[in-house]
Amino acid sequence: MRTDGFRGKDFITLLDWTQEEVEAILDVATDLKRRRAQGEDHRHLLPSKTLFMIFYNDSIRTRNSFEAGMTQLGGHAHYLDTGGKMYMPALPGDEIAYTTERVSDVARVLSRMGEGIAIRCYGDPVKWVYGRANEMIRNFAYWADIPVLNMEDDKYHPFQALADILTVREKFGAFKGVKFVMSWAYSASVHKPRAVPQSAIIAASMMGCETVLCRPPEMELDPEVLAACNQYAEMNRTTFTVTDDFENAFEGAHVVYPKAWAPYVFFKPPVGEDSEEKAQAINQQYKDWICTKDIMETAAKDAIYMHCLPADRTQEVTDEVIDKTEGPGWRSVVFDEAENRLHVQKAVMNLVMR
Ligand code: CP
Repeated sequence: MRTDGFRGKDFITLLDWTQEEVEAILDVATDLKRRRAQGEDHRHLLPSKTLFMIFYNDSIRTRNSFEAGMTQLGGHAHYLDTGGKMYMPALPGDEIAYTTERVSDVARVLSRMGEGIAIRCYGDPVKWVYGRANEMIRNFAYWADIPVLNMEDDKYHPFQALADILTVREKFGAFKGVKFVMSWAYSASVHKPRAVPQSAIIAASMMGCETVLCRPPEMELDPEVLAACNQYAEMNRTTFTVTDDFENAFEGAHVVYPKAWAPYVFFKPPVGEDSEEKAQAINQQYKDWICTKDIMETAAKDAIYMHCLPADRTQEVTDEVIDKTEGPGWRSVVFDEAENRLHVQKAVMNLVMR
């Protein structure tokens, strides 16, 4: 398909993009990855362009893949740390005199200086008001004249999802017939957003995987996301299933993707009860939701273990599962998945920031 129309578009959630457009992004990512492996220089693609990256939360993969990606494309990624020396962009209602600056002003200032604004914001900076971070990113996009890229908010982590499905396509060659199981797994921390599981099930169902969401009832995800997954499953004549049966969910799975997210009681009302105590107590009930070798043995022979990282080893997953990156049978592809962040982000930046 023609990709000229991608120029100037924001990248906030895969729900804003069609299946055909996402396939086109994956094709560009695959092409850039192959060409770079052959030693091709891509600095002519975004020469002298600047991506402003605003981080409200920590990161290893996201920051470094965007920085490396912009360097490889000939541009520069500028890191802005909201915990450091900058006025924190804020929405009306969250403003503090001479400490924050209204999002509408920051967006218009940065639009005069660079070619893209990327934002990571979820959790504590928006006081666990579910959807507030996504609202802020949408507000940036409303005011900015340049593309706004979502580096993870409280609803979506679209670049992680792109990297996930690129990895699935590399390993299985297609999506049809691939059983993709996204599951909750235990963590001692309840401070984890829903962005990764929500984006993963959106991506898997959009692309036509037989998608399964496995979670304790207290870890239910956004009903709007579940509705979208049902629609994609119908569109692709496949299935989207929700279960709380951790032991049996992985039977015959090709993709095993267990990770923790916060119980809904942890969020502020009306979604939750703003109770860390209750959330911790709920998590403790599910300490046996850990991905072990025995779980992997129930999956398909060629199954892949996926995780966005960072993983809570010995809680979400055992070392012997996450570290089995080669050999016969099932294996962990977490480092391929992390590397693919670089390639999919280069593809999107190249398509929207030109
Ligand atoms: N997967 C992911 O987004 O990693 P970081 O939190 O390290 O950026």
